[in-house]
Amino acid sequence: MRKPVLTLAFAAALSLGGAGLAKAAEGVAVPDKDWAFEGIFGTFDTASLQRGLQVYKNVCASCHGLRFVAFRNLADLGYNEDEIAAIAADFMVEDGPNDEGEMFTREAVASDHWPSPFPNEQAARVANGGAYPPDLSLIVEARANGADYLYHLLIGYTEPPADMEVPPGQYYNEYFPGHLISMPPPLVEGIVEYADGTEATTEQMAEDVTHFLTWAAEPQLVARKQMGIKVILFLLVLTGLLYAVKRKVWSDVGH
Ligand code: HEC
Repeated sequence: MRKPVLTLAFAAALSLGGAGLAKAAEGVAVPDKDWAFEGIFGTFDTASLQRGLQVYKNVCASCHGLRFVAFRNLADLGYNEDEIAAIAADFMVEDGPNDEGEMFTREAVASDHWPSPFPNEQAARVANGGAYPPDLSLIVEARANGADYLYHLLIGYTEPPADMEVPPGQYYNEYFPGHLISMPPPLVEGIVEYADGTEATTEQMAEDVTHFLTWAAEPQLVARKQMGIKVILFLLVLTGLLYAVKRKVWSDVGH
């Protein structure tokens, strides 16, 4: 009687914990890295998210879009309305048509989504030697072991093996499938100066921007895990109650 419920609770616990575990990797195997947001009690580290935003805004945003993130969503990172308005105002978005029927550009506001730096895919390719810098809103979900992959991709620029020819406009990367990537190494030591004084090493920036892009891909991650914990607690209480009821109901029946 008790068993199926317990099995159910156990399965729920497993699937919850499993969300943080490595999925089967495709392509090049990526080493495992520990993240604050992994595991049943995993949660985002706000300081890291804020530093990651700084890296994203100052480095990645010049080539990549982030269209599923609206500036007002940055409230999750601990920013207030004024701070969000100031971040948004650094970007221009297209709006319109106005009374004359013309489209126009204006400074972004909190309700705008993060604009792409290029007007369209063709323009993006022309600016990047034919390669397309994908929108990064969901990249962590779109790649196997997304966070581990992204982190290692960003620090994975190394010397190519002696027998490998790297064509102009491409770069050798240990973790990119096929090893030849058209993205120049985006992170070099000290390319951002962190507002909180943290030293901006390549590894630190890779970690922070990965944290940020994990939040961008799944802002509900922490809420989802907390709901899972509540469900398990509920199932445990229910199990106890059902057991008590069962004993009561059958107590008069002789064996
Ligand atoms: C100078 C432009 C430029 C900058 C700056 C840049 N990227 Fe890229 N990125 C590209 C291009 C071009 C590609 C496509 C590469 C290819 O397909 O070979 C790319 C591809 C990617 C990919 C996809 C890899 C895959 O598995 O397909 C990720 C992830 C990525 N960039 C993350 C970042 C992050 C994070 C930053 C900021 C730290 C950043 N990029 C900064 C140009 C850029």
